[in-house]
Amino acid sequence: MTIFSPAKINLYLRIVGKRPDGYHELETVMLPLDFGDQIALQSRKTGITLACDDPRLPTDDSNLAVRAAKVMAEAFGTDRGAKIGLKKRTPLAAGLGGGSSNAAATLLGLDRLWKLNTPSEKLHTLAASLGSDINFFMAGGAALCRGRGEKIEPVPCKLSGAILLVNPGFGISTKWAYESWAKAAPESRLTGPPPEVSLLLRALAEDDLTGVSRCLFNSLEAPSIRKFPVLELIKRAMRDDGAVGALMSGSGATVFGLFPDAKLAKTSARKVREQFGPSMWTQVTQFAPARPA
Ligand code: C5P
Repeated sequence: MTIFSPAKINLYLRIVGKRPDGYHELETVMLPLDFGDQIALQSRKTGITLACDDPRLPTDDSNLAVRAAKVMAEAFGTDRGAKIGLKKRTPLAAGLGGGSSNAAATLLGLDRLWKLNTPSEKLHTLAASLGSDINFFMAGGAALCRGRGEKIEPVPCKLSGAILLVNPGFGISTKWAYESWAKAAPESRLTGPPPEVSLLLRALAEDDLTGVSRCLFNSLEAPSIRKFPVLELIKRAMRDDGAVGALMSGSGATVFGLFPDAKLAKTSARKVREQFGPSMWTQVTQFAPARPA
């Protein structure tokens, strides 16, 4: 069984406040992309193994897909095992949700492979116990997410433009990004009041690229740009090349540009690589409305 494990971007990520459990309360809008990893699942008599084509990725219990499989096996007291094969395409620690997406695909895939027929509520509880973004990937489609990010409200989305992802070749730890936001002086966190999320949702439903671009917002962007000014330069370069809007995704370091069409986005990708050097990873993609089988 092979499963597509999409990447995501955050068009909007507003930190509402700090919670007693140490996490941050969020209001975020996420889009699944038609770009991502491939996961192959095979039955094994017992035990969970992971093989990945990217040697930088751990294949032990610190990998979220392995943890997801073990939690699934424990929750159902099954003695069945699985071999997970991961073709990694999404950059690591990139704000694109790669690890969370792999965990979601593993949970959904093992449910089918082991014929468990798990009620969706139970799968969502397992997902939330593993991390904040996994529930979003289990739901599929665009969503407004609250809480730690695990409370999902699907939203209509017709966005049809091209999305250029640019990763500068270094990762940013999610923990570091939130801590830097929390440590920053309140007046340096905001350059103005955040846009109303309802305006973004309306623009998404109407495929209004200009409206969407006007509402792009990420609380975590300012601290990351202070530490890595190249992120702002990449955003500016994409806008100069015809992006209607540009933003850092999630906790970074990937930045994305929203373009009216793929041709402009591809030209911009080439120019970004020329201007900023070979460490730049670029990918032109688009919103993926449904989870491909
Ligand atoms: O839940 P996840 O493992 O994706 O989160 C990684 C880290 O990001 C957490 O340990 C926490 O430091 C930070 N985080 C946060 N508030 C959120 C989500 C993540 O502070 N809503």
